[in-house]
Amino acid sequence: MKTIDVCISPDLLHLYKLEGKIVVVVDILRATSCMTTALANGVKSIIPVATLEECFEYKQKGYLAAAERDGRTAEGFDLGNSPFSYMDPSFKGKTIVVTTTNGTQAITLSRNASQILIGSFLSKSAMIQYLANQELDVLVLCSGWRGSFNMEDTLYGGALISGLEGVFHHESDSALMAKRLYESARYDMMKYLEDSTHFKRLSRLNSYNDIQFCMTEDLYSILAVMQGGELVPLS
Ligand code: MLT
Repeated sequence: MKTIDVCISPDLLHLYKLEGKIVVVVDILRATSCMTTALANGVKSIIPVATLEECFEYKQKGYLAAAERDGRTAEGFDLGNSPFSYMDPSFKGKTIVVTTTNGTQAITLSRNASQILIGSFLSKSAMIQYLANQELDVLVLCSGWRGSFNMEDTLYGGALISGLEGVFHHESDSALMAKRLYESARYDMMKYLEDSTHFKRLSRLNSYNDIQFCMTEDLYSILAVMQGGELVPLS
């Protein structure tokens, strides 16, 4: 039976073989939630880059460029990492270059995977339905926070494991922990997360509405997949 596993931090990614696997990169607060929202609202594609310098180079070439560091819009950029920013009708049909503290780094680190998908609660069921029909093993890569574990990303990993019970086999403690975490939190994840670090960080930055939005399940049915260095809707 095909297997699913959870890597709780990009700093542990060296322990996992990515070749031949589907990697689902998740950064619930807020990078992958923003990417899902952008594509769901008509953005043509997203170019994830690891550094501010790369992002600024694209901006100078005329691209729409979004940059976030430590939860704030980075200096020199107009677009940060609130999902509500990506609902702008003027972005329809356009490409947006994005760099964030953790999420775009995790995407960059996943380049050896057979397929890179973007996970978010916003299209959780669509991800479960898609993965259920695939043959490859799956690794959920949690973006964490600067190498540290965070709860919301692992919660998402647990949601996938729970939804794929009987379809995917899991045997690691990180997968079991993720599943148990989700089973404990699923009926009130906002309450469960309210004392977590990124939840408190974003609340201090007046981004509580972002958290509520990013924790909403199945608002969309769109999935983002990496194709030629860009994230595009999975057809
Ligand atoms: C991240 O990269 O971890 C997040 O996107 C940071 C944020 O949006 O606050």
